[in-house]
Order: sequence, then C-alpha cells, then structure tokens
Amino acid sequence: MADLAPWLEELRKGIPDRELRAAYISMSENWREGDGTTKTSGVRAVAYAEARMPATVAAMEAVLGQLPQPKAPLSVLDLGAGTGTVPWALSGAGWQVQQGYAIEKDLNFLEAFETLTQPFPEWQMAAGDICDIPFPQAEVATASYSLGEIPKDKLASLLGKCRQKGVHTFIVTLPGTKVGYQRLLTLRDIFLQLGADIYAPCPHIKACPMQVGDWCHFSRRLPRTRLHRLVKGGDLGFEDEKFAYLVAFFPESWLAQAPRPQGRIVKNPRVKKGETTFEVCTASGTLAPKRIQKREKSKAKVAKKLSWGDPWPWNEEEESSI
Ligand SMILES: C[S@@+](CC[C@H](N)C(=O)[O-])C[C@H]1O[C@@H](n2cnc3c(N)ncnc32)[C@H](O)[C@@H]1O
Repeated sequence: MADLAPWLEELRKGIPDRELRAAYISMSENWREGDGTTKTSGVRAVAYAEARMPATVAAMEAVLGQLPQPKAPLSVLDLGAGTGTVPWALSGAGWQVQQGYAIEKDLNFLEAFETLTQPFPEWQMAAGDICDIPFPQAEVATASYSLGEIPKDKLASLLGKCRQKGVHTFIVTLPGTKVGYQRLLTLRDIFLQLGADIYAPCPHIKACPMQVGDWCHFSRRLPRTRLHRLVKGGDLGFEDEKFAYLVAFFPESWLAQAPRPQGRIVKNPRVKKGETTFEVCTASGTLAPKRIQKREKSKAKVAKKLSWGDPWPWNEEEESSI
C-alpha cells in the first residue's frame, strides 16, 4: 500500500521549518475567524498538507471503514479536493477507483495535489468553483472537510447538480465541532428532500435525537505530525482527530442492497463496576443508554470489542432475548 509520508517529505523539500510553522499558524487564524481556506500560498498549501492531511485522511478512512466495499471500481467526484486527501483515503481503505475527478478552486492546493497524488494516475484535476463548474458523470461524490466552506444557500443546487450527473452515493466529512455538525444537519435535510436515504452514521431518517448543546461526532487517534509538534510543542505522541460525517445514498447505490446498521455508538463507552454503558443512536430515532454487565458473558465478550462510532450489533428483539 502506498505511504503518504515520503510524498509529504518530497513536497516540503527546501522549505525551512520556521516558514512552514508561520504559514500554518496564520492559516489556522483564518480558519478560526471563519474565513475558510483563503489567502493561500505555495507554502501554506504545503503546511496544510503536512499538518492536516494525515488527520483528514484518517477521518475519511474511518468513515469508509464503516461502509461495505463496492464490488466494482468506482467513478468518484471529489468536491474541494485540497491537497489530495480523498485519493489517499480511498487507497488506504482498499477501495478501487476507475476514474477520479478532483475539483478544487485554489491553484496552490491543486499544485500540491498534483505532487501528492502521483501514485494515483486514475485521478484528474480541474480548477474551479464547485458551485459553478460543470461536473462529469460519476457514481460517488466525496467531500472531505470542504462543504463547510460553501455558502449555505448554494448547497442544495450543488448536491442536485451531482445527482443530475448520476451520483448515487455521497460521502461527506467535516470537522467534529458544533459548527461541522450543524452543517451536516443542513446537508442531511437536503439529501432527504432529494429523496436519498442515510446509511451512516444515523441508523434512521428521523430528526437527530442529539440534545441541544450536544453534537454527533467521532474521533480517530493518529501519531502527531512533525509540523504539529513544531507548532504546538508538548510531548504527546498522538492527536485525536474529531470529525463528523454523513453517508447518503440513492437506490442505484450498492449501499441500498447492504445490511443497515441497527444502531450507532455515539459516545465513548463508560466502564464502571462490572458494567459498560453505551450511548446508542437507535433505528427508531432515539438515543438510548445500553448497559452490558460483565456477567452477561457472551454479550460482554462482543461488547468488549465495541467502541465509539461502531454499529450497535443487536436489534431490540435480540437484546431482550439475550
Ligand atoms: C479544509 S480544506 C479540505 C481539503 C481536502 N478536501 C482535505 O480533506 O484535506 C477545504 C478545501 O475546499 C476548497 N474549497 C472551498 N470552497 C470551494 C469551492 N467553492 N470550489 C472548490 N473548492 C472549494 C478549499 O480551497 C480547500 O482546498
């Protein structure tokens, strides 16, 4: 399997650490101010790739890992492709791409994309605004950490445009913040209005049962990048990437034939005195605490392996019969 690290090394060759650090810090300030990915430069694109790509790839891989793999290679349209997260994540998850189309408005990011995706010649790039540029036919649309940067009133026509081009499966990730979650709720409404069904993380299409002030998100632990250590200091050897996601599909999708998750674990399980409690979003559209006691031997054995983000393996009938 291809390894991203040497390609990142190649990309940052000749750029002093202090320049990368300054570029990443000023870019983070723009994001905090809600500017999105703007005012980029060659160095900022490299700093983005080095600091963020391992985490955005890990988040997308985690999402792909929740889905049954399609049997045949796919055509994929990547919206706001940045420096190449989606080709790396699809490859890391073992998905085959017949033809990939990466659309990105920022030329500095596209230049980095070109270097970083050399192992994936099946991908071609187009420079342009995803809200205006004509799309090719494709089966799957991906958007990794990008749809938060699109004006809200343009989202419905953007997703409708994908649908008109044959897209039957949408895989979207966003930062695991309240803002990212709110944007996913907007996207979820649009998908449902377009006639889509939701495969994950929600096991239902009813209103999201998260309580006011809380938000649905997940986490992936990964080793900290060199630039992260440089920028943030500290000794921790890992970072926890918090992400939110949504997978929506139409009847032509392979997901339509796949078994549906019966629930989703939406918090870290809590272990206390011989009992593990899981917060589960259920197929009936409610949040329910599920308690498994150590003495329920066969169930506890399965539960031990379950973590935040996993599908809940039992339906209500099976639960009461165990
Ligand atoms: C936070 S970055 C994410 C990049 C990449 N998908 C990833 O996961 O690492 C958001 C990307 O969306 C791109 N973007 C934002 N609005 C766009 C638009 N209207 N058309 C095309 N690309 C856009 C930005 O230029 C930027 O590269």
